[in-house]
Amino acid sequence: MSDVLELVDVSVVREGRSLVDKVSWSVAEGERWVILGPNGAGKTTLLNIASSYLFPTSGTVQILGEKLGAVDVFDLRPRIGMASSALADKLSRRQTVLQTVLTAAYGMTAGWQEQYDDVDERRARAFLDRLGMGEYLDRRFGTLSEGERKRTQIARAMMTDPELLLLDEPAAGLDLGGREDLVRRLGRLARDRYAPSMVMVTHHVEEIAPGFTHVLLIRQGKVLTAGPVDSVLTSANLSHCFGLPLVVERHGDRWTAHGLPLG
Ligand SMILES: Nc1ncnc2c1ncn2[C@@H]1O[C@H](COP(=O)(O)OP(=O)(O)O)[C@@H](O)[C@H]1O
Ligand SMILES: [Mg+2]
Repeated sequence: MSDVLELVDVSVVREGRSLVDKVSWSVAEGERWVILGPNGAGKTTLLNIASSYLFPTSGTVQILGEKLGAVDVFDLRPRIGMASSALADKLSRRQTVLQTVLTAAYGMTAGWQEQYDDVDERRARAFLDRLGMGEYLDRRFGTLSEGERKRTQIARAMMTDPELLLLDEPAAGLDLGGREDLVRRLGRLARDRYAPSMVMVTHHVEEIAPGFTHVLLIRQGKVLTAGPVDSVLTSANLSHCFGLPLVVERHGDRWTAHGLPLG
């Protein structure tokens, strides 16, 4: 299997501080990764590197077999699908759900001047349908609930038929029902062998959908451990990562974590 991502000794330094510190990490084709760590750990920074939008201060990055710095990122970017709140903020609130997904095919965050092919429209409808947004095609993006917005964004990220799908905290801000609905849909995607390789950022083990295969734990810019879900998600590893005593439990194909009572 070929590598979808390969980071070697990657650091990002800003104002004398390493946001990401000598990270070496590889993602093979078909793997589904979770990046887990506390706020400010460097998760989004890592995802911005993986999406080719951030060039590291040092180290080497290969994305989909192309070396960052030696490839035209405009050729690379359509091969990567990304959903994050930063990207959502750039989307026009006045566009309809269907337009929001369709514009991804043309690498735009706004605009409705282009003529869209029927093929594209069928694809956009199919992705929206898969994410439970089939009834909302004509709704304006700005009027959607948080959960509907996240699902629209994931459909949008899928639109260019990416080889790598990057999701930054897709369940953030969702209520319990919304989270469980999203976890179920992400689980279905993760287990689909034709779906792209995936990397999802979160800080809750409860958001790890069945079908995710690997976890990378990050704290203060440093990778603590990275590997198959079962070997990485231990109470000792998670306690170290979040800096307090935690108990991690597996229930069937889902995970929970809680702190220990004071005493
Ligand atoms: N452009 C920047 N300049 C300086 N510090 C930054 C910049 N971007 C992010 N940071 C800091 O880097 C750290 C890691 O950020 P981030 O990757 O967003 O963390 P996470 O997504 O894990 O919460 C945070 O402390 C954040 O404040
Ligand atoms: Mg973040």
